Formats: sequence, structure tokens, C-alpha cells
Amino acid sequence: MTTIAPDLAQRFRSDGFAFPVDALTPAEAEQALAECHTYLRTVKAAGGALARYAAFPKIHLVTTWADRIVQHPAILDAVEALLGPELLVWSTNLFIRPAHSGSSLAWHQDAVYLGLNGYQQHAARVWVGLTHATVANGTMRYARGSHLRGTLPHRFGSSDLEDIMRGEEIAVDIDEAAAVDVVLQAGQCSVHHLAMAHCSGPNHTADGRFNLAIDYITPQVSPTAGEDSALLVRGRDTGAFLPETRPASDFDQAALHEFYSAVTRRQKRIDQTVLNRHGEHCGDPKQGRA
Ligand code: NI
Repeated sequence: MTTIAPDLAQRFRSDGFAFPVDALTPAEAEQALAECHTYLRTVKAAGGALARYAAFPKIHLVTTWADRIVQHPAILDAVEALLGPELLVWSTNLFIRPAHSGSSLAWHQDAVYLGLNGYQQHAARVWVGLTHATVANGTMRYARGSHLRGTLPHRFGSSDLEDIMRGEEIAVDIDEAAAVDVVLQAGQCSVHHLAMAHCSGPNHTADGRFNLAIDYITPQVSPTAGEDSALLVRGRDTGAFLPETRPASDFDQAALHEFYSAVTRRQKRIDQTVLNRHGEHCGDPKQGRA
């Protein structure tokens, strides 16, 4: 039985985020981190699509440590308190900021490239700490209340997909006084709205920072275009999404098949979303705003 803060949903609605939420026990977090390291070594050695999609967007379909986290009762109870009893996992992202890494992420909103209808009311991202997340190791910062401003204009640094996903930047001023550092113990998580403006800093410490971000949606959400799939984790309704299957064991044949199908479907949608947005920015009349 988990305890959910009574004001969790209220804070999520007004601030656009809520943390810390106790999720994994310290022992579970430690085990997940160890398995994550093994997983990364395995997919690097395997190469191909496994390596290309090692951090995003469907790793919970191919490896059991991530599956256990997306199904963790404490996390699902917290998300149910925000979104209701019908829950799907749409996406997972492994965010790693290596030791002594100078890289950082500019202020941005994830919602701009997700291609989801209904996310404003029916989706949340859970950001789970597999390690401590601190100011020193470059944890995420939120701009409190920024989700209420809707989708803000962004500028692209380049046309390369990876740069767009990692390098898109909000083109309006963010009030630094409203910025909140997401400080978490290993095993704790934070939840935020997909239109929350956020950024992150360099890691000045001798240890890597590892976070697993999970996008939960309800059946009220639908893809803006194209076919997509998601994993039902509570309730019975997958809505507009094709159903996905949990991995029975790491990298087994069925799990690999599910993983490849899901990332292929998703990549098609990402390419289209990026093309559309890039067209808007470049003034391409075929891709321009209606
Ligand atoms: Ni982001």
C-alpha cells in the first residue's frame, strides 16, 4: 500500500509538477541501476536497432528492469491520482548525464514534438531517479506554472533529428526566479506536465546521473497522425493505440519483435512530426501552418 500526498494532483495542476514522490526503495533503485548498466553494455555490443534505440523510446518493451519500473505500484498509484484508473505507457527515455559532463539542455517543452492530442489533460511524465539527482550533477529545473502558457515558440539549432530532439530551445524569456531544481534521492520520482518548460545543467560530480522518464497517457490521448502503440498498465482500454506486450525476459524473441515493431511505428511518427515542425520554421509552403 503506498501513500500518495493528498495535494499531489492539485500541485500537478497548478505548478505543472510535483515531487518528490517515493517510488522505488533504495534497494530497488540500486538493483535497477546495476541492471541498467548491464543492459547498456549488452545493447552496445549488439549494435543495430537495439543500440540506436538504447535510450528511447521503448526500452521497457525489451528489458525487464525498465518494465518493472513502468509497472511499479507506487508510481502507478501516483499517476492514477493524477490521470485516473486507465493508464498506458507510451514512451520511456533513459537520461544519462555522465560524470564530469559539461553538456546541458536549454529550456524546452517536450510536448512540441510528441504529436499527441489530449496530452494537456490526460498525460504526465514521471522522471525516476536511479541515482540521486542534485544541482551538482545537473538535475532538471522546472519553470513553475509554465505549462499554463501552452506551447511556446521554439527555435531549432539545426535540422538534424538528434539536435532537434536534444537542442530545441524556447524562444521566449523564462523567469529564472520561477525555476525550481528537481532534487531527488535515488528511487524517488518527480511528475510533470508535458508542456512544463524545463532545462538541465552540467554534471560537476564524479558519478553519472541516471534517470528514467516514463510518459503515461490515458485512452483519451490519441496520435495527431499515423499509427502508434502503447502498453496498458492499468484498466482495460488502449483507446486509439495498438496494444503492446510486456517482455517475459530480457531480449527474448517475442520482446525483440515487439520492440522492433514499436520503434519502427514510432520513428515514422517522429520523422513526420519533425518534418512538419521544420517546415513551419523554414516557411516551406507545403508544410506551413494552416
Ligand atoms: Ni525534455
